[in-house]
Amino acid sequence: MFFNRSAKQTNISPLGQQDLEKKIPEHIAIIMDGNGRWAKQRKLPRVAGHRSGVESVRQIVKECGVIGVKVLTLFAFSSENWRRPEKEVSLLMELFMTVLKTEAKKLHKNNVQLRVVGDLSQFPAKLQKYIQDVTELTQENDGLVLNIAANYGGRWDVINATKEIAKLVELNVIKPDDIDEDLMYQHLSFADLPEPSLFIRTGGEQRISNFLLWHLAYTELFFTDELWPDFNEKSLAKAIESFSCRQRRFGRTGEQVEQAAGA
Ligand code: IPE
Ligand code: IPE
Ligand code: MG
Repeated sequence: MFFNRSAKQTNISPLGQQDLEKKIPEHIAIIMDGNGRWAKQRKLPRVAGHRSGVESVRQIVKECGVIGVKVLTLFAFSSENWRRPEKEVSLLMELFMTVLKTEAKKLHKNNVQLRVVGDLSQFPAKLQKYIQDVTELTQENDGLVLNIAANYGGRWDVINATKEIAKLVELNVIKPDDIDEDLMYQHLSFADLPEPSLFIRTGGEQRISNFLLWHLAYTELFFTDELWPDFNEKSLAKAIESFSCRQRRFGRTGEQVEQAAGA
């Protein structure tokens, strides 16, 4: 497995001092928002904003690989986005498929492991097959793990995990008292990956919009007014700069953290 999560969060950096020193977040999760407004500003159809957003995705994926981020999770389509006009939804599906087609080999060549996380059962069969092919193609890669959250919802994730755990109780595999944070984490998406260290939302809104609810409990949050199609390497550097100036205390005092860092 990619990471061992069994080490409980009793350390300041749950997954190694090394990343703390480098100040590079090991897992970045992004709500890529503002495509529609970017297009509107230019009097273009909304889909033009989504298309332009794909270029930002390319840049950010590349940059994360270069600077040594281990996991990048991008919110591409939420469980609530089905409420959008049918036309926009189908254009988004088409775009998703085109991007998978054109980028798969490049991602594979760059040692990226692509995963798609969410309730994929509602996607067109053809898209599901593509997702399966691409994830299989890249599953042995040990470079950047790129999670695309598609038809993902934080509540959906928690409900799924709860159902799985309830079944284990029903089958007498575990007892209700065995349920703890680690067990819960094992039944959520990203079970083998570290929690996001840095969350970024572009587009000016300061909300979670049903993204990673459980996982963001101790994540550093960064909001920017920049619209997703304008977000580039420099914008990412600003977010990481902000992250690296923060003291992550995980409930402790600042003095305790300083002491542990000096030890
Ligand atoms: C984010 O941009 C992309 C998706 C939700 C798929 P939006 O389409 O939400 O852009 P705004 O918020 O309308 O500007
Ligand atoms: C969140 O953006 C979902 C994605 C970026 C995929 P939205 O634009 O859908 O969020 P709300 O509805 O404004 O909160
Ligand atoms: Mg939006």
